[in-house]
Amino acid sequence: MNQIALLENDLLLKVAKGEKVDRPPVWIMRQAGRYLPEYMAVRKQARSFRAMIEKPELAAEFTFQPIDLIVVDAAIIFSDILVIPEAIGLPYEMIPGKGPFFPNTVRSASELNKLHSIAEESNLDDTYAALKLVKKELAGRVPLIGFAGAPWTIFCYMAEGSGSKTFSIPKSILYQDPVFSHNLLEKITEATITYLKGQIAAGVDIVQIFDSWAGILHKDTYMEFAFPYIQRICEEIQGVPKIVFAKGAFYALEELAKLDCQVIGLDWQTQPSFALDRISKQALQGNLDPCLVYAPDDIIVEKTEALIRSFPKGRHIVNLGHGMYPDMKPEKLKLLVQTVKQFRYDS
Ligand code: CP3
Repeated sequence: MNQIALLENDLLLKVAKGEKVDRPPVWIMRQAGRYLPEYMAVRKQARSFRAMIEKPELAAEFTFQPIDLIVVDAAIIFSDILVIPEAIGLPYEMIPGKGPFFPNTVRSASELNKLHSIAEESNLDDTYAALKLVKKELAGRVPLIGFAGAPWTIFCYMAEGSGSKTFSIPKSILYQDPVFSHNLLEKITEATITYLKGQIAAGVDIVQIFDSWAGILHKDTYMEFAFPYIQRICEEIQGVPKIVFAKGAFYALEELAKLDCQVIGLDWQTQPSFALDRISKQALQGNLDPCLVYAPDDIIVEKTEALIRSFPKGRHIVNLGHGMYPDMKPEKLKLLVQTVKQFRYDS
């Protein structure tokens, strides 16, 4: 039996496959997290962010919160892109109020040589266990999205060792040591392929690749150091649809359109018409300004409906152009989601 037949709400997969729908599906990047009081209540009891994603029952609870509270059309597994550096030998900490921190970094061949491949048993098993649990508890209500960071974005954190406004350390490494850069990107790519295959085996219906730091590169460096690795991941990951979200990569939309993926995510700076002029095959995901969630109700409704009308019927998945912020109000997001759910293409 085909998996889709078992899903009650398969709108997201239908759009990814180019099938007919009467309204666009909607889910939201960072739909789980600190803006939800219910998340904060459970998070208080956990030792750390890592402890939250390492315990499948907790990860499942956080995954379900936006499904139950905001009533989105898809679940995204509660985890983080930084589990990949950890799985190949570079552990991280999540510092409350500050973000990711890596006690060690990888900036040279000797540091790269200390990394390893994904072991038979690893921290990734926690994600697989959480996915299996969520998949079972979802019982086909909505599709389950798996994800990974794109190699360039993971490279950024491994080399910088934390978040950064400029990521000037990883960027400088690209120029100063292209051979090392390709070797590290290769290592990350291999691990990411293994990880995504594991997620598919654990039951995900679709995967998203987050290239959150695409926008800090020049087109030339993007095409040399970022794009080819996403291309390889897309070629090797088969069996479920793929969404590629390269934030800030307006300059590479023509190239992204050539990827073996079904959906391209758009940030909010990209005009729908600009993307549609460059992408004719894939569906597009996005791309409301996240700050629309702060707007009065009537503006949220107006802008959301206008967004839907700016994409062709059946080729659009509603989302923000990036994630939710901690001080946003769940009621506002709920209104946005309701607006999409009430929309009908033919009315
Ligand atoms: O609901 C969901 O989106 C699913 C879960 C999810 C998380 N991180 C949980 C999380 C997903 C898909 C991610 C992806 C992720 N993680 C990305 C790519 C997407 C993007 O936002 O560009 C990146 C770059 C990361 C790395 C990361 N994780 C950073 C930079 C931070 C700190 C940012 C911040 O706002 O504090 C995290 C922490 C993180 N990941 C939280 C959550 C819910 C906040 C943890 C907390 O303090 O409660």
